[in-house]
Amino acid sequence: MSRKRTLRDLPAAALDGKRALVRVDFNVPLKDGRVTDDTRIRAALPTINYLREKGARVILLSHLGRPRGVEPAFSLKHIVRDLERLLGAPVEVIPDPATGVAATRRLPRGGVALVENTRFWPGEEANDPAFAALLAALGDFYVNDAFGSAHRAHASTEAVAHLLKPAVAGFLMERELEYLGDALDKPQRPFVAVLGGAKISGKIDVIQALVPKVDEILVGGGIANTFFLAIGFSVGGSLVEPEKKDRARALIAKAGAKLILPRGAVVAPSLERAAERREVPSDRIPPDCAIFDIDQATRLDFRARILQAKTLVWNGPMGVFETPPFDAGTRAIAEAMVAAGERGAVTIVGGGDSAAAVAGFEDKFTHVSTGGGASLEFLEGKPLPGVMALEDA
Ligand code: 3PG
Repeated sequence: MSRKRTLRDLPAAALDGKRALVRVDFNVPLKDGRVTDDTRIRAALPTINYLREKGARVILLSHLGRPRGVEPAFSLKHIVRDLERLLGAPVEVIPDPATGVAATRRLPRGGVALVENTRFWPGEEANDPAFAALLAALGDFYVNDAFGSAHRAHASTEAVAHLLKPAVAGFLMERELEYLGDALDKPQRPFVAVLGGAKISGKIDVIQALVPKVDEILVGGGIANTFFLAIGFSVGGSLVEPEKKDRARALIAKAGAKLILPRGAVVAPSLERAAERREVPSDRIPPDCAIFDIDQATRLDFRARILQAKTLVWNGPMGVFETPPFDAGTRAIAEAMVAAGERGAVTIVGGGDSAAAVAGFEDKFTHVSTGGGASLEFLEGKPLPGVMALEDA
């Protein structure tokens, strides 16, 4: 991918007094109307604060959740208090982009406004040029800092970038592309990928794309189960995708010794019956049990391989990490990655569940991506529409 123009490339005069239309990814988890993890909001602050310092008027766009039309539960009003606290400044809500131009012009230099959830309007997901034109009218130039949404060709991430120039990457977007891009294009070797998560269907293309690039792929989580099935092991009541068995078998053949599967598993009759859990080798999964984590032998094996690596990319938990004690394998991977980082390795955590698994100690990794689906598509080598639409440097 060619390098994209960034906020850094715009001269001060292009910012001062101008209306910056900034697409952020404020798709944050909410519980009872409150933000439970503000990582994505904090990650957007360098771009927002830079623009404010340069005298721009900042108009923020984001989606939140997957509403069907206007659903108050998905209103961005729920995040305003957190945003104001983190910015230390008031935030004006623009309830409808169609009637918002006057409010953007009234904003003081350094002021911040937040447009209501872009997915409240059907034109957003349809990538409708007419809706994008309404958005474009709210700014004098466009900044995309929403790496987490860059795999979506929506009006606020794609179409608007064709209508409003300059159209540049924000600092978060720039950093995400740099870390993930460098890991893939010029990794220090050994380059080891660790892939987990529940479903192989979401990861099989990533594994396929990574095999030629990496020295090893360590596979855990539910996705390992379908590989077990492909080898001919029975997996009891474990989560498995039999329709992907043939592709899994082809991948094993293609990857050869690079693909490392778990030696054994932590099994139990059900998640609720964790007290009856035990460790068994991968070819001895009891028919009345399911796999919920990697076993101790695998944790040690994966740790040793991780400690030898100079570049590490990790995406997806090794077990049902949200239900202790089945989080132990995932925690062991996180700890091994941190130890590898202390020895000088570049450690990158793809977003989504694996980012949640390292919440609170992100600073011990080289980079923790804010993108779940976006970082996976990036690792697959797919062009990201929200990035493609920006101007080349
Ligand atoms: C994400 O959380 O991965 C992004 O915000 C994109 O959300 P989406 O999957 O609903 O498009």
